[in-house]
Amino acid sequence: MIDQETVRKILDTADIVEVVGDFVKLRRSGANYIGLCPFHNERTPSFSVSKARGYCKCFSCGKGGSPVGFIMEHEKLSYVEALRWLANKYHIEIKERELSPEERAAVSERESMFALNEFALNFFERTLSDSDEGRAIGLSYFRERGLSDASIKKFRLGFAPEKHDALVTAALAQGYSSDLLAATGLCSRSERGTLYDRFRGRVIYPVFTLSGKVVAFGGRTLKTSKEVAKYVNSPESAIYHKSDQLYGLYQARRAIVSADKCLLVEGYMDVISMSQRGVENVVASSGTSLTEGQIALLHRFTSNVTVIYDADPAGIKASLRGIDMLLAHGINVKVMLLPPGEDPDSYAKSHSLEEVEEYIRQNETDFIRFKARVMLQSMSSPDDPVARAGVIASMARSISVIPDPVLRSEYVKECARVLSTKEEVVALQVAKYRNETIAAQAPAQQQQQQETPPPPITATIPPRQSFATDSRAAYMRPTELELMRLLVRYGMLPLAESVDDSGQLIEMISVAQYVKMELEADDIRLENPDLGKLFEEILRLKEPWAAELQRLEGEAADVAARHRADSAISPQGLTMEQFKKKMDDLEAAATRAAQDYVATATEAFIPRILGASPDAEIRNLVNSLVAEKYVLSKMHSKAQKLESERDLLSTRVPKAVCGMRIAILQWQEKELRHDLLQKAATPEAADILARLQQLRSLISQFARLLGDRIILPN
Ligand code: CTP
Ligand code: MN
Repeated sequence: MIDQETVRKILDTADIVEVVGDFVKLRRSGANYIGLCPFHNERTPSFSVSKARGYCKCFSCGKGGSPVGFIMEHEKLSYVEALRWLANKYHIEIKERELSPEERAAVSERESMFALNEFALNFFERTLSDSDEGRAIGLSYFRERGLSDASIKKFRLGFAPEKHDALVTAALAQGYSSDLLAATGLCSRSERGTLYDRFRGRVIYPVFTLSGKVVAFGGRTLKTSKEVAKYVNSPESAIYHKSDQLYGLYQARRAIVSADKCLLVEGYMDVISMSQRGVENVVASSGTSLTEGQIALLHRFTSNVTVIYDADPAGIKASLRGIDMLLAHGINVKVMLLPPGEDPDSYAKSHSLEEVEEYIRQNETDFIRFKARVMLQSMSSPDDPVARAGVIASMARSISVIPDPVLRSEYVKECARVLSTKEEVVALQVAKYRNETIAAQAPAQQQQQQETPPPPITATIPPRQSFATDSRAAYMRPTELELMRLLVRYGMLPLAESVDDSGQLIEMISVAQYVKMELEADDIRLENPDLGKLFEEILRLKEPWAAELQRLEGEAADVAARHRADSAISPQGLTMEQFKKKMDDLEAAATRAAQDYVATATEAFIPRILGASPDAEIRNLVNSLVAEKYVLSKMHSKAQKLESERDLLSTRVPKAVCGMRIAILQWQEKELRHDLLQKAATPEAADILARLQQLRSLISQFARLLGDRIILPN
């Protein structure tokens, strides 16, 4: 645990130009620096680094971020690892945070588990190479399956002796506790309370984390008896979550990055054989279907995945299921079937590297064509219109989950072509499913609220809709998001001044402070917990910001001075009047340059700090809100006449707060209307109606304040 002070120091010190400059040759271009993007292959530079914003971004592939983000992406490190990397670069001494006793216990428990796993790894390896039993059974098995010594070493394969307590005895002798042996799942307790090994008489495939720590083991039996389970695997534990690991990723990660592509296979042996053949960018899902966690992990390395499955019907079915999840993550998915009866292991063994590569080139298929082919083939009569509609619908469903609209429309075209149908037909279905997908995702984001998504703020409520299915938080979300977007972008900019009676400035009120005051005055809280948390985090930056601002103002003075020096005016040939005018203009320009400098750095502050927050939810929120703003400011700069949003803050921010009030009132209106429906025939109805009318007039008063930004129901 790095302490907060140190984290802040690292974030403040890290200079984006210097950090990126370690990996990319940068040259100055106007206010920014540019160079060749380190994340994809290119010949003309599209990687832009803004010193003032502390941010880098590739205009071609979109990758980039703050210094921490850049290092995470480039070096494939976790947040904390990236911070340590930067600390090392800048010789910042890392102060570790004092851990609470519980935390310390948890950390040392995890560390002990890793240590024991490491011990077991060596034990299994040694047994394979040094013991008679290991050599006679394990090693000869691997040899028989064609594995080289290099592969055995690379994947650190091992052997577990048949004896029921071989590892237990060895580990206890080394001082590992029996509790630890049970916690890692390396051993189990019998009913009589004695410990025995989980892995007995099996070859061992260790599973590594990205940083190369061993978290689990898979043990394959060498017996052919149906009575014996083919694989025994480590159970889930404090350090092992199966759904977050991909077998082989540790060994494959560099190959995946350099090929910008990953092959996904099923089994341990598939990975090892392909790798031995020279196709090293391979990982395995270990027989189960892909999980979100695995996809996210893989996506850190590449957006191009080719799924390889056996050509049997079960394999094909499994591939179709996994595809939609990959698509939803924005991954470009290809699918490849092997010749009947082959798996990647057998194919790699019986073919040369050139043949394997050629086979992949020839046979990997765009998922659209693959899925269409599979589905058309499985139809009894391909011309039956009903069955065809089913295929189109299913294809449309897959396309609808793709996040990128451009890609989606390309797939729509492709799909229409493959199924020889009209593009509009497919597009319409995609749009329909897309609405459903978005609808389905909204509550998922709010965790466990099994309620339906927000109706658009303009929606009228269909009379028979059950009220319980509407969620207040979901309803408020778009409005709250807009407010948070303004805060993330402009939160630290001054919005108003508070002055005392004599006109002395007491305090500058920032956008964030203003919003806080306004919401508190009306006792409004954010309904979405994630946005509420973000708001808190922003408010907590008040003090660090004050310190940052002092520093910036010093720098701004330099900026102004440089501006004056750069455009010094000679009085020669000018009248006194002209000279004075020029000097005034110059001074105004210098002041503006300094102000601009501060404002730009101010805007960058929240995204820089919170965009690198250790809390992934905050980080993702901030980065997506920043990304949105990005598009917006680009549009502004194209249509030059438009004022930038920054200049409009004094109206935008109050309007956004007002939007909150309106949305809350609208929700109350919805509630009342629902009440009214329930109690239409009761004496209370008149009362409800009166309150409804009050509400409506309140809403329209507020709405007038807002201008045309929100269209009200009715
Ligand atoms: N698997 C597993 N646990 C099981 C069954 C399968 O973890 N009980 C995983 C393993 O990663 C295995 C993969 O699923 O490698 C595929 O299973 P299978 O096809 O049965 O094994 P193969 O990898 O083909 O093993 P081998 O070639 O050695 O027979
Ligand atoms: Mn196999």
